[in-house]
Amino acid sequence: MNAVLRLSEPRFRPMVEDDLPLVIGIEQEAYPFPWTEQIFRDCLRVGYSCWVADRDGHVDGYGVMSVSAGECHILNLCVRPELQRRGVGSRMLAHLLQLARKHGAGTALLEVRPSNHPAVALYQQAGFGEVGMRRQYYPAAHGREDALILAKDLTVGP
Ligand SMILES: CC(C)(COP(=O)(O)OP(=O)(O)OC[C@H]1O[C@@H](n2cnc3c(N)ncnc32)[C@H](O)[C@@H]1OP(=O)(O)O)[C@@H](O)C(=O)NCCC(=O)NCCS
Repeated sequence: MNAVLRLSEPRFRPMVEDDLPLVIGIEQEAYPFPWTEQIFRDCLRVGYSCWVADRDGHVDGYGVMSVSAGECHILNLCVRPELQRRGVGSRMLAHLLQLARKHGAGTALLEVRPSNHPAVALYQQAGFGEVGMRRQYYPAAHGREDALILAKDLTVGP
């Protein structure tokens, strides 16, 4: 990565309801099939681990994770499009995995579209490997798209 383009370290803080307008704006810009506001509200309500990357009061990105029964599930990881490829996503992922370890998770799991090359590359670089496939999991422009299931052993390595 070009070190000049790398952003200063964001502050990771818990997402609050007041963040939702900004978060939903980023979500709608970043994904062809974005989560709805209600999904974010439900994640906050049930106590999922919801974080924003805050740099000088601006939301650069966010992550949503559930942790239970020794596993964490990365449910959403997203960076403001104009700030992508500057280290925010990998830092947020590292933050979530560190928290998951603290909460006793030994495995991290997630689903990703095989066509989402930036995300697949990010997760591979972070040590995730393919453990399965969910057929016809995502809506797509034409029909549906499979999901890769990726996992990482949190008991070894960084
Ligand atoms: C996936 C996403 C979160 C990555 O965040 P990011 O801040 O851009 O990623 P980083 O800058 O931390 O990149 C870390 C590594 O991921 C890989 N990567 C990230 N973007 C990439 C791209 N466009 N092409 C190829 N590899 C990429 C690279 O290996 C990169 O390391 P490098 O820059 O040293 O080569 C971001 O692209 C995004 O928000 N996408 C839209 C939402 C999404 O699809 N989320 C994932 C859902 S499963």
